[in-house]
Amino acid sequence: MSDGRTGPLPGGGAGGAGSDVHAVAAAAFEEVASAADLRVLDAVRARYLGRGDGLLTVFRKRIGSIPDAEARRALGQTVNALVERLTGAVDERRASLSDVGTDGASEAIDLSWPPPPLRRGHLHPVSRVFRDVRRIFGQLGYIAVEGPEVEYDRYNFTLVNMPPGHPSRDTQDTFFIDDDRVLRTHTSPVQIRSMLVRGAPQRVIVPGKVYRRDYDATHFPMFFQVEGICIDEGIALSDLKGTLEFFARSVYGADRSIRLRPHHFEFTEPSVELDVSCAMCGGKGCRLCKGSGWLEVAGAGMIHPHVLGNGGIDASRYSGFAFGIGIERIAMLAYGIEDGRLLYENDVRFVSQG
Ligand code: PHE
Repeated sequence: MSDGRTGPLPGGGAGGAGSDVHAVAAAAFEEVASAADLRVLDAVRARYLGRGDGLLTVFRKRIGSIPDAEARRALGQTVNALVERLTGAVDERRASLSDVGTDGASEAIDLSWPPPPLRRGHLHPVSRVFRDVRRIFGQLGYIAVEGPEVEYDRYNFTLVNMPPGHPSRDTQDTFFIDDDRVLRTHTSPVQIRSMLVRGAPQRVIVPGKVYRRDYDATHFPMFFQVEGICIDEGIALSDLKGTLEFFARSVYGADRSIRLRPHHFEFTEPSVELDVSCAMCGGKGCRLCKGSGWLEVAGAGMIHPHVLGNGGIDASRYSGFAFGIGIERIAMLAYGIEDGRLLYENDVRFVSQG
């Protein structure tokens, strides 16, 4: 974009009408460039380029009275060139002012116009469930701690009763970092870490991310678990059952049914799974619950004596239970979300729902 102020101009030079015309033109270009709207621009154009008495136009009239032919020609060329450039600058300025939609009266900004309503943000469903889970277990005296997501193979597997070569390792769909480290496939390695740090008794929950090579409507490569650990003298399976019942009723309300099913985990004995009746179909059977009417929301059991020993705890004196809750299952049930992938795709239409 040229503003017409650069580049050689024929004629003019120092002194006489030539330098007057340059001074006038310089002021004109200045005013064109700073014209804030089309009305001001039109006024500037009229002042300098107006037919009869425009400040640049009047130089044209003087040309004829210059006696020296050479000087006359030079001034004529100078004035013509300046008029042409100024006209171009006015046109460019007009185009740029029109571009931003400013013309005549509508260019004014109406400061009294009410602003769009402010929309309040809210927590993501997964964050809400985390908050609820912390609160519920907080009422039972659990403290929340964290563990590393890049975990040693030893903690993720070996010390929770899955030694190298153990077939159960194959079921974990592990992301390996190198020979010694993995992305933790569950929060259970923090059982060992917490035992080594806190000993007994302890009541701890571990909310966090875990990773598995898995992806469909109910499985995600990264998902959230909350591990729970309760160790003391005389802890029994009935304590686990009471704790899980309290948790399920607090999250879902007393009207939702739960059931404990016998199961198997390497690091607990006996082991159970906690099912909650499906929120989508009310127990009749649907896509989410794969027709069973129940959704599995947690694995749990009495901590295996080997695992207590690996954590430096005397299994002849202490016993404990552990559980691992799948957070997105809880969120899907609590909010009736049928496809759990929605929780991670960050589709605004989904996440902006209050
Ligand atoms: N770590 C198990 C899983 O990811 C869940 C679990 C935790 C089971 C604690 C028992 C005790 O499936």
